[in-house]
Amino acid sequence: MDRTKIADALGGESQGQEITIAGWVRTVRHSKGGFSFIALNDGSCFAQIQVVADNTLANYDSEILHLTAGCSVIASGKLVASEGKNQSVEIQSTEIRVIGKSDAEKYPIQPKRHSFEYLRTQGHLRSRTNTFGAVARVRNRICSAIHEFFQQRGFLYVHTPIITTSDCEGAGEQFNVTTLQMNDIPRNDDGGVDFSQDFFARPTYLTVSGQLEVEPYCCSLGDVYTFGPTFRAENSNTPRHLAEFWMVEPELAFADLQCDMDLAEAFLKHIFRAVLEDCREDMQFFNERIDKTVIETLTHVIESDFERVTYTKAIEILTQTDRKWEYPVEWGCDLQTEHERFLTEEVFNAPVILTDYPRGIKPFYMRCNDDKKTVAAMDVLVPKIGEIIGGSQREERLDVLLKRMEQCGMDISEYWWYIDLRKYGTIPHAGFGLGLERTVQFATGMANIRDVIPYPRTPRNAEF
Ligand code: 4AD
Repeated sequence: MDRTKIADALGGESQGQEITIAGWVRTVRHSKGGFSFIALNDGSCFAQIQVVADNTLANYDSEILHLTAGCSVIASGKLVASEGKNQSVEIQSTEIRVIGKSDAEKYPIQPKRHSFEYLRTQGHLRSRTNTFGAVARVRNRICSAIHEFFQQRGFLYVHTPIITTSDCEGAGEQFNVTTLQMNDIPRNDDGGVDFSQDFFARPTYLTVSGQLEVEPYCCSLGDVYTFGPTFRAENSNTPRHLAEFWMVEPELAFADLQCDMDLAEAFLKHIFRAVLEDCREDMQFFNERIDKTVIETLTHVIESDFERVTYTKAIEILTQTDRKWEYPVEWGCDLQTEHERFLTEEVFNAPVILTDYPRGIKPFYMRCNDDKKTVAAMDVLVPKIGEIIGGSQREERLDVLLKRMEQCGMDISEYWWYIDLRKYGTIPHAGFGLGLERTVQFATGMANIRDVIPYPRTPRNAEF
């Protein structure tokens, strides 16, 4: 069908022409003089287009007068300047075909404000609302900005596997992948699971990160990135955690932590600039209805130099303030969101890159610093969210890596291929992971991460 997208029609270029548009009715108003005003949305932009129908249309009495929110229609007519004050153009329709009716009383998305909690129960229809349409468009723009940024800089996009045998972060928060029948698990003589009968003949998991598999490509092809779904079986019921989320992970060849931090800062600025420039209408909506500071915050991030502070310095700051912490702070502890937010929102009033964390709280692959206590790690913290990026320089020295793996209690034979990279032409390299949903949250001001991914997966919830 030769249809004009509503975004293009509202752009005004086809004014005076006959066009055909298609979409879902948001609201309908019938006036006494035999006119109806239909607000139609097709997802191509935030705004609705007004379609004016009069009683000369053949199906006016039989169909148009019965249109309600949720019906799908195809409308043809002339795009003309509108006399109404809410829109610059409208369609004077000559034909409206009702494609799909919708039961007005039962339609779950009534033309009124619904709570986000309620809309989560309507995951298949919530993208028809203003908020979820806007989130989907901003999320899309962020994804295109991610590829744009790396492609412009000559990074190769590498697809890492979703099913893995390794545990990159070492946190044991993996989902098992198996075809064994739960009610009839084959056992070894010692009572353990007999994985030789499983599909892969060994334990396998959904990946928590593509990093370990992207590193070999970095150590052969140079700068690379992977971008895909990752899974964590952590029982975290917070507004910032999902069991399934998307992560983009660049890996820089012949690079140290400084290069990594520079890349992360330029990357975030590129993404937020793209959103502010290309999603103006959606961002205006978020700024008016969701978070009145969101545009100001994004602009501030783009214009700020990110503060670079060591973990040790951060602990000093956190222990010297009068603030009462829910989670007590001391050197060696992992920072909680309350600490991260305090640093970025109140102490520095800018994004903060915390570096050089204690070895004991970071995974095996991070490069050991000369002080023998810390690793070349970096986390980027932003207001309201806390950690949005986690990364590090990688341990490229064979002997140091092996010792670390041993200390971490890892089965070294499982990681023979990862260790090979350090045997054959090892290089300094570094990378990071940016959580896509936390980025969408930050860009839109949406309070709950469950509302920035189409179908959230969280503990006890995998509907749709
Ligand atoms: O800090 P993380 O665990 O880092 C890694 O996985 C590294 N392997 C990345 C790398 O160096 N290539 O996770 C990176 C980011 C976090 O900063 C956060 O934005 C996001 O992933 N993230 C989550 N987002 C939503 N729900 C969760 N459960 C998340 N866990 C991490």
